[in-house]
Amino acid sequence: MASSSSALLLCLLFISLATTTGHSYSSSNEAFLQCLHLHTKTSTKNLSKLLHTPNTTSYSSILLFSLVNTRFNTSSTPKPLLIFTPTHESHIQASVICSKSHGLSLRVRSGGHDYEGLSSRSQDHQPFIILDLTNVNSVTVDVDLATAWVQAGATLGDVYYQVANKSATLGFPAGVCPSVGVGGHISGGGMGTMVRKYGLAADNVLDVRLVDVHGRILDKDSMGEDLFWAIRGGGAASFGVVLSWKLRLVPVPSTVTVFTITKKAEDGAIELINKWQYIADKLPEELYIEVVIQTVANGSGGGVEALFNCLFLGKSSQLLQGQVDPENFFRNEQSIPPLLI
Ligand SMILES: Cc1cc2nc3c(=O)[nH]c(=O)nc-3n(C[C@H](O)[C@H](O)[C@H](O)COP(=O)(O)OP(=O)(O)OC[C@H]3O[C@@H](n4cnc5c(N)ncnc54)[C@H](O)[C@@H]3O)c2cc1C
Ligand SMILES: *[C@@H]1O[C@H](CO)[C@@H](O)[C@H](O)[C@H]1NC(C)=O
Ligand SMILES: *[C@@H]1O[C@H](CO)[C@@H](O)[C@H](O)[C@H]1NC(C)=O
Ligand SMILES: *[C@@H]1O[C@H](CO)[C@@H](O)[C@H](O)[C@H]1NC(C)=O
Ligand SMILES: *[C@@H]1O[C@H](CO)[C@@H](O)[C@H](O)[C@H]1NC(C)=O
Ligand SMILES: *[C@@H]1O[C@H](CO)[C@@H](O)[C@H](O)[C@H]1NC(C)=O
Repeated sequence: MASSSSALLLCLLFISLATTTGHSYSSSNEAFLQCLHLHTKTSTKNLSKLLHTPNTTSYSSILLFSLVNTRFNTSSTPKPLLIFTPTHESHIQASVICSKSHGLSLRVRSGGHDYEGLSSRSQDHQPFIILDLTNVNSVTVDVDLATAWVQAGATLGDVYYQVANKSATLGFPAGVCPSVGVGGHISGGGMGTMVRKYGLAADNVLDVRLVDVHGRILDKDSMGEDLFWAIRGGGAASFGVVLSWKLRLVPVPSTVTVFTITKKAEDGAIELINKWQYIADKLPEELYIEVVIQTVANGSGGGVEALFNCLFLGKSSQLLQGQVDPENFFRNEQSIPPLLI
């Protein structure tokens, strides 16, 4: 934790699944639709409801719904020929096969939170489609086995809600923003407030279902060790489309303690940040303290402030009674000052 000032600033580079093909590019949406129809058991009428072209009113709102970097909301930003919002695994397999045979590059989007816009634009002005997985978002929790199958389009908020709905003492260690998608998040690592005790989200993946470049569905056993390793941190879009992850859920107390302490420079923020660097990694694993350093809006006087965002896996009384009191913890380490928050 000490090496990271903020999980919010994590940003991993993903290389989108690129297709190379000898076929010439066809501008006919109809041909693409027929190809999807051929490879799924879905009628063209039903499929066309899931295809959004620049001519359909849904196009702009679907394209921009998850935009996090307004630099990519310009008229010169490359736009997809189509946005496909599949509802079934077979649709996703077909979109890989058909985009390849039609010379279209495929951008895979789950939560759409990619800061570099890799899930929503092409970098080389190649014609492309967006495969938007927001409709593929089920979360199935098995409390007895402490596992969950989560589809790629589920958000972290969906996962946390469904796990909490089934058990007060199970959780999943992933990021803090509830609208981040598990497709991009877990394939890039996924760091959150339980990272000290349970590691990254990707460390807690037990199995996966992935569509490869040929449209086949692979799982952990059939894809082999190397690919299973790569998609848990290396970005899955370089290798295929993640359909779903099987996650290991972790034990948590039914009551936890969450607090944020804000200090401005004139309140000793700099001294505290300095101390934090010495003790944050030596505290018990149940106590997570991150620091966000940010500029303050002028309305509150301006300047810089430090936010200490904390999670303790236990009750506040345990924390206050000194069971994990930082001063007690460090009483034998004279050189390290106590934490004064
Ligand atoms: C507000 C905000 C808060 C954040 N907080 C945290 C945090 O607390 N901790 C943390 O670790 N990170 C955090 N992040 C970073 C976030 O985890 C990454 O941006 C992540 O890649 C987003 O995943 P996504 O599915 O929402 O994004 P997308 O834009 O949909 O996808 C990101 C990348 O993954 C690829 N991809 C998406 N779905 C699939 C799939 N099913 N199969 C294969 N490839 C796929 C995309 O093509 C793209 O390259 C945050 C980002 C934002 C914008
Ligand atoms: C088309 O959609 C309707 C309504 O959702 C559904 O009942 C029907 O089974 C679908 N048919 C095909 C062939 O996809
Ligand atoms: C949009 O509509 C115009 C005019 O009706 C048509 O020429 C064009 O091919 C359509 N584009 C797409 C992507 O469907
Ligand atoms: C994108 O740009 C358009 C036009 O400037 C604007 O109306 C819209 O609010 C912007 N959307 C986002 C999400 O930034
Ligand atoms: C759990 O989910 C069910 C069904 O969706 C819902 O009725 C119930 O209110 C939820 N319980 C909690 C604790 O959220
Ligand atoms: C705050 O804004 C006012 C007027 O907009 C400006 O005069 C002042 O310098 C600003 N203060 C800081 C700390 O930026």
